[in-house]
Amino acid sequence: MRPAPTLLALTLDAALLRIATLPDLSRLPDHILVDLFRRTLSAGKLTERVLKLFLATDCEEIILLVQLLNIKQPLLPVLPTTLQPNLTSFFQAWQPFFSRFDIIVVKDPELTADLQIPSGFNVKVYTKSDIDGLLGATSINFSGHSCRYFGYLVSRKKYVISIDDNCLPAKDPAGMTVDAVTQHMINLKTPATPFFFNTLYDPYRKGADFVRGYPFSLREGVECMLSCGLWLHNADYDPMTHVVKRNQRNTNYVDAVMTVPLGAMFPVSGINVAFNREVLGPVMFPGLRIRKEGKHRWDTLEDIWNGLCAKVVCDSLGYGVKTGLPYVMRSDAEAGKALESLKEWEGVKVMDDVLPFFESLKLSRTAVTVDDCIKELAGVVRQKLAPKNAIFAKAADAMEEWTKLWKSHGAQNA
Ligand SMILES: *[C@@H]1O[C@H](CO)[C@@H](O)[C@H](O)[C@H]1NC(C)=O
Ligand SMILES: *[C@@H]1O[C@H](CO)[C@@H](O)[C@H](O)[C@H]1NC(C)=O
Repeated sequence: MRPAPTLLALTLDAALLRIATLPDLSRLPDHILVDLFRRTLSAGKLTERVLKLFLATDCEEIILLVQLLNIKQPLLPVLPTTLQPNLTSFFQAWQPFFSRFDIIVVKDPELTADLQIPSGFNVKVYTKSDIDGLLGATSINFSGHSCRYFGYLVSRKKYVISIDDNCLPAKDPAGMTVDAVTQHMINLKTPATPFFFNTLYDPYRKGADFVRGYPFSLREGVECMLSCGLWLHNADYDPMTHVVKRNQRNTNYVDAVMTVPLGAMFPVSGINVAFNREVLGPVMFPGLRIRKEGKHRWDTLEDIWNGLCAKVVCDSLGYGVKTGLPYVMRSDAEAGKALESLKEWEGVKVMDDVLPFFESLKLSRTAVTVDDCIKELAGVVRQKLAPKNAIFAKAADAMEEWTKLWKSHGAQNA
């Protein structure tokens, strides 16, 4: 006679029957999750939705299993901004890391040439007509580097990784090609430690831990929402620094990830960045646009402003932000053109007003969601910064506009 099934087995069978409609598995202990996952697989019930349900538990064994079994994770889109039409070498170089994921390419609305994208990728391209069609008249200008934010809006994934189209995979000092996607995911899925600086940097990294004296009550960390990667070769300089140091290239690979401490501000770059879209989406906007903004990275401050807004919101809501690995290799094809931007570049003076503003900013405790925080922040920008320079009034407009766009087009249920 067959032994009677255990109560656990019966429960798992019952769960398996309803697996397609269960709302949440995150309360299950890991070993039961893994058992249920295996049963789901053998019953042929692992649909995209069910896989998401399992992955949302963040159970490491499940993630490992998914990798081992080479199951396509529908989690991550990658969003290269498109400022040049021929993306052939970009896609070829990123193929080993991107081909598993949904990729969004947003074409700069002012770029007229046709894009060239090799086959074999799951790519959705958005162009000016998609932007105009979806948003109609909007006060946000999505041209140039700002086109990426349209991709943030229309993606429906939990995590977004954005890499500029002039970047290729970097090599680490051992000569291994860096998998930027995996490193960003590790940064986002391991906790951040904003309340006290760990001198061993990321304590959750293999081979590291919390240093002596680190309070045990803080060792659980907080959820990391933003991962700011770095780049080799063409450093991200202001135009004047570019002009003065035209032959200088960044070769300094620092093998570290660290949490940016609570209250510390830093310049986020859109070149190589990843974030939790579900939480941070309402603050990932192109707000600040300087008057003579051009097509070059050094002409823009939209990502710096965006990063400062995201950092104060994360600080206020108790989320973490990391910087460091992964590196990408950034081309310097346009580096010689910085001189043109030098004459009228407004960025020099702007940051001297911007930084003290953010450093002294305190959002109220009644702002408990990212959306609340942005609405409050836009109000303070209008009150304190807008009288100094009209670009700040426009930034406040754009921030308010973004919260509306997010509600109608960005939120999961939009
Ligand atoms: C696009 O780039 C690829 C790879 O560098 C090259 O082989 C191809 O000829 C380019 N296409 C055009 C139209 O320039
Ligand atoms: C958006 O900005 C670009 C400059 O980057 C400018 O040429 C264009 O006219 C602007 N579009 C709108 C609708 O203001």
